Amino acid sequence: MSVRDVLLIGGSGFVGSHLVHRLAARGLNVRVPTRHRDRAKHLLVFPTVTVVEADVHSAATLPGLMDGQDAVINLVGILQGGIGSPYGAGFARAHVELPQKIIAAMQRAGIRRLLHMSALQAAMDAPSGYLRSKAAAETAVCASGLDFTMFRPSVIFGDGDAFLTMFAKLLAIAPVIPLACPDARFQPVWADDVTAAMDEALSRQEAIDQTYDLCGPKQYTLRELVAYAGEISGHRRPIIGLPSGIAYIQALAMEFVPGGPMSRDNYYSMQLPSVCATGCGLPFGRQATALEAVAPGYLRDGRWRSGNDRYRQVARR
Ligand SMILES: NC(=O)c1ccc[n+]([C@@H]2O[C@H](COP(=O)([O-])OP(=O)(O)OC[C@H]3O[C@@H](n4cnc5c(N)ncnc54)[C@H](OP(=O)(O)O)[C@@H]3O)[C@@H](O)[C@H]2O)c1
Repeated sequence: MSVRDVLLIGGSGFVGSHLVHRLAARGLNVRVPTRHRDRAKHLLVFPTVTVVEADVHSAATLPGLMDGQDAVINLVGILQGGIGSPYGAGFARAHVELPQKIIAAMQRAGIRRLLHMSALQAAMDAPSGYLRSKAAAETAVCASGLDFTMFRPSVIFGDGDAFLTMFAKLLAIAPVIPLACPDARFQPVWADDVTAAMDEALSRQEAIDQTYDLCGPKQYTLRELVAYAGEISGHRRPIIGLPSGIAYIQALAMEFVPGGPMSRDNYYSMQLPSVCATGCGLPFGRQATALEAVAPGYLRDGRWRSGNDRYRQVARR
């Protein structure tokens, strides 16, 4: 079935904004619910995109959002969801209960096609609530009977990312970087490669009931990634790897900083290498783009821009 109308939940964020751009560019109608319309106003530059302020958790709201849609994409994800067993309350709500509600609403509305964003290394016995809650959602999606495609990326880089850009901003102001988990391994994948795979999955029959791990072409340690962000943003700084005990205490302390960049749960996630088992990973024969080919374009000399600027430029408005 060809897809024309898409409900993109979590479409106002970093990956969502890239995906909206891609889907709108080929004329799809995209409905983006957000809790705060202001946060998604950069998406209004696209004529086929509708931004709706809505509570997607509400049983009264979700059916209306599904009305007239051919497919649903769920990108909702949080990094700070509390600590608890099997996961913190925030993770339970955003990563487990919400996907269950989305599945139920799709079943009632008779919408079959679902793209769901998980994360590499999600597993019920993973060390972090983030990864365990992502695994619980995977189980629900697989059991849904819907035509699903699941994506499990390593860390995602690209214009507007919260990873390399956060380090570049930090390096611009800090004389030295005390780094938790410096040897944690990642295989960063470009946002445009991720969204291209998602877009292609919408029209590929063989993508139905499949789960794809998404990785870039090369593995790095966290220390290497932070050093690289410093190199290209013009702020090389000494990086001091913290021993694990101190890293844990730093993560705990950061939980008291509103919007803090680190938590114990993040620390636990980084105990697992976020890399693809079989090397480079993209579906449909796609070649992954190198970090070095893209990151200088948005990080060099501190030239990171707001999402608004980027999408105005893309839409020429
Ligand atoms: N970025 C990465 O490196 C990476 C790596 C692996 C997996 N992922 C997964 O990819 C997905 C997208 O990540 P991202 O980097 O684009 O995240 P993001 O920029 O933080 O965007 C998160 C989106 O989720 C929505 N959201 C957050 N909490 C919500 C809640 N409690 N209820 C309803 N909506 C909520 C936000 O909508 P509002 O407009 O309402 O705020 C926003 O649209 C997530 O599932 C994430 O776990 C990301």
